[in-house]
Amino acid sequence: MKTSVRIVEVGPRDGLQNEKATISTADKIALIDRLSATGLRSIETTSFVSPKWVPQLADAAEVYTGIHKQPGVRYPVLVPNEQGYERARAVGVDEIAVFTAASEAFNRKNINAGIDESLQRFAPVMERARADGVAVRGYVSTVLGCPYQGEVPLSDVVRVARALHEMGCNEVSLGDTIGVGTPGKARAMLLAVAQEVPIGALAVHFHDTYGQALANVLACLEEGVAVVDSSVSGTGGCPYAKGASGNVATEDVVYMLHGLGVETGIDLAQLAQTGRWLATLLGRETGSKVGKALAA
Ligand code: HMG
Ligand code: MG
Repeated sequence: MKTSVRIVEVGPRDGLQNEKATISTADKIALIDRLSATGLRSIETTSFVSPKWVPQLADAAEVYTGIHKQPGVRYPVLVPNEQGYERARAVGVDEIAVFTAASEAFNRKNINAGIDESLQRFAPVMERARADGVAVRGYVSTVLGCPYQGEVPLSDVVRVARALHEMGCNEVSLGDTIGVGTPGKARAMLLAVAQEVPIGALAVHFHDTYGQALANVLACLEEGVAVVDSSVSGTGGCPYAKGASGNVATEDVVYMLHGLGVETGIDLAQLAQTGRWLATLLGRETGSKVGKALAA
């Protein structure tokens, strides 16, 4: 296991994109500013996707310009196409994430394109990002199952991850979008991808629908993964992934990592406080067990 792990906090994006009630721009900014003070080094801030598809994040430009960016913290955003890239660059974004899936059916629901079509759509974005010195992360969704297609062949996951890496994504995040994976399957999936993409360029992204996310993270850490996506208070879900629940809670991942002697740079007490603040804002209990325990 690595001695240090970088958490990519996806709460402000993955966590909020599926919320039904509109969250104010000021609250989104307050969330990111609080997260910036916890020691997190990467905070996925918002998405420059079509507001018709994800109305909750229609204020992406206002959020990105409103946050107080801290030195040493990266603030990536999701970009689905050239239009999104232009909107992001107009407000000074210097790190983006493109996203596709290992399942053809999920991609059609999520981005209205098949796998190969989505990769073609990214090509001009990648070219411009390279010219502009913008870092690009690539997401592969549905790596352990698809809500429409069911089983997803490992060979499809490997093919899409390799394609993103070859296109120039410096990091490829492997997403169990609907949270159906178990540790043995997660490990096998990671090892299959790591045959083609260096493990140092891989991140894991687990949703906790069946309560397996933390176990899946551990299995992948044991294989040497050093980047883990998670969401404060366990918020999250994709509007196009029916039945999916939140991401693994950042508080729970950090507690486990610190318990294993792995450094994250994160102040857990402050993070847990932010998670409870967010839960209050959303009108429910925190989705983090650690968050609850630390409040007791
Ligand atoms: P489309 O409808 O096929 O695109 O959507 P289009 O090019 O025909 O455009 C339709 C309208 O949207 C047009 O406006 C465009 O201008 C506008 P109109 O002419 O009708 O007035 N438009 C945009 N506006 C602002 N910004 C843009 C943009 N692009 C088009 N960037 C599209 C295709 C990809 C745009 C759409 O499907 C989309 O935005 N999808 C995003 C869905 C999404 O955000 N899903 C959640 C994120 S993925 C996820 O959560 C999984 C992940 O967490 C990992 C995991 O868990 O596995 C990453
Ligand atoms: Mg996700």
